[in-house]
Amino acid sequence: NERTFIAVKPDGVQRRLVGEIIRRFERKGFKLVGMKFLQASEEQLRQHYWELRERPFYKGLVKYMSSGPIVVMAWQGLDVVKTARKMLGETNPADSLPGTIRGDYGVEVSRNVIHGSDSVENAQREISLWFKEHELICWEESNELWIYK
Ligand code: GTP
Ligand code: MG
Repeated sequence: NERTFIAVKPDGVQRRLVGEIIRRFERKGFKLVGMKFLQASEEQLRQHYWELRERPFYKGLVKYMSSGPIVVMAWQGLDVVKTARKMLGETNPADSLPGTIRGDYGVEVSRNVIHGSDSVENAQREISLWFKEHELICWEESNELWIYK
């Protein structure tokens, strides 16, 4: 079963959007399998954003992401990586439609509230970067037969 890595960024936490974001993923029908509230270290962020290390905004991004606590989550479900990206909206909130998280709650690309993995491979890499194996919980969901045929 597919999993994705979602993080509520420091601006999302400060703006009290954690509950709203969890609510959207729960109501969609995805299953929460891991969640932590933490202050990210620069070393973790450097690993997380490895692919962006040459970008001009990289330094500012690491500073932003370490500027306050974040909530990291792993969500499971059918096509969850792709569907979560749709729920988030575009990288730039200005390009994101209303109804998406960034479209509803963000204004600027450098304060875009939430992170979501962009591929199944990166989801696996990110989940193992932010979670230890025992922090991921496999559990039976009683609603499963109403969410999946
Ligand atoms: P994430 O889900 O956070 O990974 O966003 P993304 O996959 O939509 O975008 P990407 O991985 O390319 O960039 C990671 C993060 O860097 C974005 O979410 C933004 O916070 C930031 N970022 C991306 N592009 C820009 C930019 O052009 N300027 C600035 N200031 N920040 C950017
Ligand atoms: Mg990305």
